[in-house]
Amino acid sequence: MEGLVAKGLAKSIGISNFKEQQIERIRQNCTIQPAVLQIEYHIYLQQPHLIEYCKSANIAVTAYSPLGSKGVSGLNKMAGVERELPDLLDVPVVKEIAQKYNKSEAQVLLRWIVQKGIAVIPKSTNAKRMRENKDIFDFKLDVDEVEQLNSLDANVRVVNFSFFRGVEKHPEFPF
Ligand code: A2P
Repeated sequence: MEGLVAKGLAKSIGISNFKEQQIERIRQNCTIQPAVLQIEYHIYLQQPHLIEYCKSANIAVTAYSPLGSKGVSGLNKMAGVERELPDLLDVPVVKEIAQKYNKSEAQVLLRWIVQKGIAVIPKSTNAKRMRENKDIFDFKLDVDEVEQLNSLDANVRVVNFSFFRGVEKHPEFPF
């Protein structure tokens, strides 16, 4: 990747699914520091230490699976993995806040992430929902609401890669 930057083929280097130890190893061995870390991030997986570490290392964070990646249950099924996944759009406090601002549950989940200074990349195959997902800049959660959502952290990882059979044998697992 550093070679690509030198050739002008890439502007910055990003990493994904790295934990602090792994980022540290990269930082100590690289010439060009990573600009961004992309990780699963939502109300049920907040990893505050990792976020703080990235801030201190001047690494931007991008949140994937901000809405809980329902599609993962299909991948799990195909791999024969039985696992109940949480429904992030069906959480009472999220519903309450959504009602207050006349916004959808998805918009509240995304707004909460943006207010933390984290970039967010919700996925949708539906044009209406894509528009909905970027229409989050005309309201602001108050401090109490942010706190209420912070308190939902449960260290639940939806994309735990169990759909890749044998992933636990990888020397860097868990990522
Ligand atoms: P769809 O493609 O039918 O819109 P994530 O970004 O966390 O991986 O979540 C993607 C999932 O969330 C997809 O199943 C997507 O379905 C659904 N989704 C995306 N945007 C919204 C939204 N605004 N409201 C409800 N579901 C959404």
